[in-house]
Amino acid sequence: MADTTGTAKLTFGDKSIDLPMRSPTLGPDVVDIGKLYAQADIFTYDPGFTSTAACESAITFIDGDKGELLHRGYPIDQLAQQSHFLEVCYLLLFGELPNKAEMLDFEHRVTNHTMVHEQMHNFFRGFRRDSHPMATMVGVVGAMSAFYHDSLDINDPWQREVAAIRMIAKLPTIAAMAYKYSVGQPFVYPKNSLNYASNFLHMCFAVPCEEYKVDPILAKAMDRIMMLHADHEQNASTSTVRLAGSSGANPFACIAAGIACLWGPAHGGANQACLEMLREIGTVDRIPEFIARAKDKDDPFRLMGFGHRVYKNFDPRATVMKESADEVLELMGIHNNPTLQVAKELERIALEDEYFISKKLYPNVDFYSGIILDAMGFPTSMFTPIFALSRTVGWISQWKEMIGDPTQKIGRPRQLYIGEPYRDYVPVDKR
Ligand code: CMC
Repeated sequence: MADTTGTAKLTFGDKSIDLPMRSPTLGPDVVDIGKLYAQADIFTYDPGFTSTAACESAITFIDGDKGELLHRGYPIDQLAQQSHFLEVCYLLLFGELPNKAEMLDFEHRVTNHTMVHEQMHNFFRGFRRDSHPMATMVGVVGAMSAFYHDSLDINDPWQREVAAIRMIAKLPTIAAMAYKYSVGQPFVYPKNSLNYASNFLHMCFAVPCEEYKVDPILAKAMDRIMMLHADHEQNASTSTVRLAGSSGANPFACIAAGIACLWGPAHGGANQACLEMLREIGTVDRIPEFIARAKDKDDPFRLMGFGHRVYKNFDPRATVMKESADEVLELMGIHNNPTLQVAKELERIALEDEYFISKKLYPNVDFYSGIILDAMGFPTSMFTPIFALSRTVGWISQWKEMIGDPTQKIGRPRQLYIGEPYRDYVPVDKR
């Protein structure tokens, strides 16, 4: 637990109380209001948690002003350049980079859990073919608790770890199956001779009647996309996973809750919405029209892939993603991609516009990811499932950290009630 390093004085009416201050290893100090209600009979009010730390965590740190993202202390750009997704998974889950033997063992364990229970195939077949793959994923991941009974006991650390490995291993399989089902193609079983990213591409794009060779360049780009999405501290879906888990719900149910939350267009759904927006803009001459709409208070339209609750300078994931977009399109021989042209010009114009400057709105991770995924051959409906399978390690690491914390208790926010005060029931004939 972070040390108490001082006190903050809160004065209200004729009362005054001292609240303990706590210092993190990085980031602003925190006023600990845990005993505020018991001591002073008042609550704090912070819709959207803009000023509230809901937990202690040692996994990920974001400095929004500097545009810095650290996993267990390591900067994301170093990880993106030098590491790979499964190593980042190990780092997030266990706290340290693995040595060679630990990495091999971890890879082996993940690889041996890639298949899903055969009975789950029937479960997929219950969905309509035109279901959004995220809808299918919410259902199927939740249903994992019906298939893997031997990793449901959250009080057993071994079962918690098995559940974590199962989810890291099976989410790509489930996402690929959701995709195959939506396009009416047969499911492709995982191929354990392939690395994690290649295996996912193979399950998405191979068909039984033809040989499919995974392009190593695309596999590397896929791996990088996975790394850039792996964790992002207490965002909406991660907080959802923690809140669901705080009641003692099983890990599969918690991750299904996280997937449901991620789907929204303000969160992970922004990658699909962003590419659709770039396509709708179509040509650079239409950009001013969309910029004007984004600035219009009476128009609900927002520039998708722009803005972030925490980053107020730049999103370091977007910087790496933009480089990747250039590389992937170049390597695939796609020149003058109109969507990329619109994206770059939109970014340039928005970053010079007083509205976006004053509100500190910058491109986020979702701004360029769709362009890469589109070039790889994924339909827009698969963008958010790919975010979900990549974020699963972050969710499960945060869940594991929470369950292992002896001070953990059920999450139960309070409210500022604005409804009717007490009134007596009136029988229907007297209303
Ligand atoms: N386009 C136009 N105006 C915007 C945008 C945008 N994309 N984002 C924020 N604003 C304005 C907003 O209207 C508000 O203006 P005012 O103060 O005059 O009312 C101000 O900026 C602050 O916005 P907010 O909604 O209070 O900020 P927030 O921290 O609650 O929201 C956000 C953050 C990411 C939800 C928001 O920026 C947004 O909706 N962006 C578009 C969706 C998007 O790209 N989401 C992906 C986020 S990164 C990946 C992830 O988390 O999954």
